[in-house]
Amino acid sequence: MRVYLDHAATTPVDEKVLEEMLPYFTKKYGNASSLHSFGREARDAIERSRERVAELIGAESEEIIFTAGGTESDNIAIKGIAFRKGKGHIITSQIEHPAVMATCQHLEKKGFDVTYLPVDKYGMVSPEDVENAIRDDTILITIMHANNEIGTVEPIEEIAKIARENEIVFHTDAVQSVGKIPVNVKRIGMDMLSISAHKIYGPKGVGALYIKKGTKIEAIIHGGGHEKGLRPSTENVPGIVGLGKACELAEKRMEEDMKRMQRLRDKLIKSVLEIEESYLNGHPEKRLPNNAHFRFAAVEGESLILSLDDKGIAGSTGSACSSKKLKPSHVLMAIGLNEVQAHGSLRLTLGRENTEEEIDYVIEVLPPILEKLRAMSPLWKR
Ligand SMILES: Cc1ncc(COP(=O)(O)O)c(C=O)c1O
Repeated sequence: MRVYLDHAATTPVDEKVLEEMLPYFTKKYGNASSLHSFGREARDAIERSRERVAELIGAESEEIIFTAGGTESDNIAIKGIAFRKGKGHIITSQIEHPAVMATCQHLEKKGFDVTYLPVDKYGMVSPEDVENAIRDDTILITIMHANNEIGTVEPIEEIAKIARENEIVFHTDAVQSVGKIPVNVKRIGMDMLSISAHKIYGPKGVGALYIKKGTKIEAIIHGGGHEKGLRPSTENVPGIVGLGKACELAEKRMEEDMKRMQRLRDKLIKSVLEIEESYLNGHPEKRLPNNAHFRFAAVEGESLILSLDDKGIAGSTGSACSSKKLKPSHVLMAIGLNEVQAHGSLRLTLGRENTEEEIDYVIEVLPPILEKLRAMSPLWKR
């Protein structure tokens, strides 16, 4: 049996998404900037996708720009504000994805001040901490919606309110939450929000950035005037069509998917926590419906991943981007684990196609693997 439980890293492209994308490679290949019918066909497809993305997050379609992915959306948003202001202070958290974290670190080197807020043991940012960190020269607050490793969902409504009251631009990286849990930009009241297609059964290399009407940012990429001059380059029409369809499907399926995944996830968590010295990372309730993140005493995460892989099960330890490094995950360190504990973690993230049988298989296979690894570990009590 092959069981894919790494949907936080990426998802398969939905057949319906692929079907809608295909004609835009071979038949409807016009450049969306061209005035002829080929061009208009491509332009219409892009605008339809823009409406679908907007619809999913409760935005106006003119508030959406298409990008080359979540990382690019984060960069355009954060550097866009920083470059426009020229100097100032940015508030973020210690558990951001590298797309935000490394961008902030880069800006620090360029003379901006950055506060990296700590989180509690569940990975929660405190709105009070955000408020206390605000300075006269704070230009941006960027706090992720849901964490990609431990699945904790942050209190962004409260943080957005604080940002609004202090007239500071608020950006959120919602790459892991959009399409999985309800996200409404108007209700939350935010200024910018990043989306990535490949986390929601769309293609890789395409994303979107919501920019609230009236929010002014400086372009960080220069070229032709595509996407309001903020993301110049001939549009990736098939990719954009794929993202639009993925958003439409996510909206239709969200309630049903959430319920199903949450049920399977809870079954998985319940069974795994029955294993001796196993713990759940992340918030027990305020977490993504598809995320289960564990820590096992005296087990080395990499060996666990390889043993599971031998049995056909794909999971991850740390985030996909950091799993090849030996450094422990910054997220796990931020929630207070030590290096050894952080290395003994396993992230299993469910998706639409996972079945009950697959979860039962994981529940059956995992305990003997842990037993075997622990038997070889000098850290395990005997
Ligand atoms: C929270 C978060 N932000 C940003 C990204 C980057 O998105 P992309 O791979 O589309 O650049 C990811 C992907 O791992 C993510 O999980």
